[in-house]
Amino acid sequence: MALPRYRDIAEQLLAAIARGDYPPGGRLPSVRQLAAAFAVNNLTALQAYRWLEQQQRVEARERSGFYAVQPEERPRAAEPPAPPPGTWVHVDDHVANLLSLSGSNIATQLHMAECDDSLYPSEELARRLRQKLLRQPALVGAHLPNLERHALFRGLRQLADGCQMSLAADELTVTNGCTEAIQLALRSLTRPGDVVAVETPVYFGLLQTIESLGLRVLEIPCTPNEGLSLEALAFALRQGPPVRCLVVVANFQNPTGALMPDDNKRRLVEMMRRHAIPIIEDDVFGDLYFGAERPKPLKAWDRDGNVIYCASFTKSFAPALRLGWFSGGSHHRRMERLKISNSYVTSSLLQATMAECLNDGMYARQVVQLRKALKTQAHRLQAAVLAAFPLGTRVIAPQGGMLLWVECPEPVDTLQLLQQALAASISFAPGLVFSAEPRFSQHLRLSAGMPWTPQLETAIDRLGHMAKDLQRR
Ligand SMILES: Cc1ncc(COP(=O)(O)O)c(C=O)c1O
Repeated sequence: MALPRYRDIAEQLLAAIARGDYPPGGRLPSVRQLAAAFAVNNLTALQAYRWLEQQQRVEARERSGFYAVQPEERPRAAEPPAPPPGTWVHVDDHVANLLSLSGSNIATQLHMAECDDSLYPSEELARRLRQKLLRQPALVGAHLPNLERHALFRGLRQLADGCQMSLAADELTVTNGCTEAIQLALRSLTRPGDVVAVETPVYFGLLQTIESLGLRVLEIPCTPNEGLSLEALAFALRQGPPVRCLVVVANFQNPTGALMPDDNKRRLVEMMRRHAIPIIEDDVFGDLYFGAERPKPLKAWDRDGNVIYCASFTKSFAPALRLGWFSGGSHHRRMERLKISNSYVTSSLLQATMAECLNDGMYARQVVQLRKALKTQAHRLQAAVLAAFPLGTRVIAPQGGMLLWVECPEPVDTLQLLQQALAASISFAPGLVFSAEPRFSQHLRLSAGMPWTPQLETAIDRLGHMAKDLQRR
């Protein structure tokens, strides 16, 4: 059987080291140079280095690169390589700094996965909330009445049917955002110190949640084209530390925007079932597709309750309502009990109003408009970035969601770029916050949630010029 591409690259590097092309202690090509030499993306090149690291044939030196290791430092053949431990997460400070930009007076804010207010039906929602409260004032003082609960669950199950996912009515729980659903799933599956497999790059909010629960991560490469690498995951499950669960965004991943192909989704669900490792699926962007059809969630292939499905209306309908939900499969009951200790209940007024919006078609209408706006905005933003940024900048056209993942050519450092951008009143999320390890220093994530304006066009142009200046230095 042919070797996976990263192994093939690793074997060729080993041969080059053996030939003496790189003496012991000698510096190896950078990840970017290796990727260019083999015409692969950086993550595949990084995967090759990670594998060689595990074999103790190369050594990573912080901020310096990879170096060939002295042959005598290699373990004896009989000794199996030690499984790489998971990584403790320390992103809280970086993320807090980034979040603090939201309350600032930065003129062009592109650092969050958010849309402009004008794209949400805030006035119509305010009117409905007012009416609901006037008609049913008891909603502020009581639990959600059964009539409304059934209406809400009917609406949620219709959404699920629309993406070929059939959910049992007694396996639905409403939460305060998708964040609470994911937190409950992690709390129900793990103990402090456990290792959770995540994508890399990964949504920094998930890293924060993982950090707060005292968990470690095992980062599995995720590419803008296909999402999570199943090959890398299979390898990590064979060679790595025991993994308690996997958290994955198969539809329009944050930050890469990747949409996992259906066949990979099916294979992923099957692989994790075989390993008896639960999947926590985050489908918060699933309704924001640009194509003809709503992509299926992993849960659509789940036959034995191994997938915990988590979603919310934060991105697609009303960010500040903080309404999310989960269907936890065989883990549902435990998660439901944990919800009580976490936040007890979710606002009855908001749930009852959401039920109405789902059942009378308002949600569906709003999402059609939002999808149209996001598709146009994302394409304009991508074109503007490619026109303004240095030659060699890479951006994959997103197929949904509201994010653009930009890879700048060497030696652009996006933390440096951010400092300059902030001085020009422009913000974005630097690549560094999307990993627990020092990675993605040449990447940045831009929000495509802002309507296209001359001010935005000028901001992207300025950002591109700053990146060009950094590249020339
Ligand atoms: C992938 C992903 N999951 C979850 C969330 C948070 O969802 P919520 O605001 O519903 O808690 C975000 C927000 O950016 C996200 O990007």
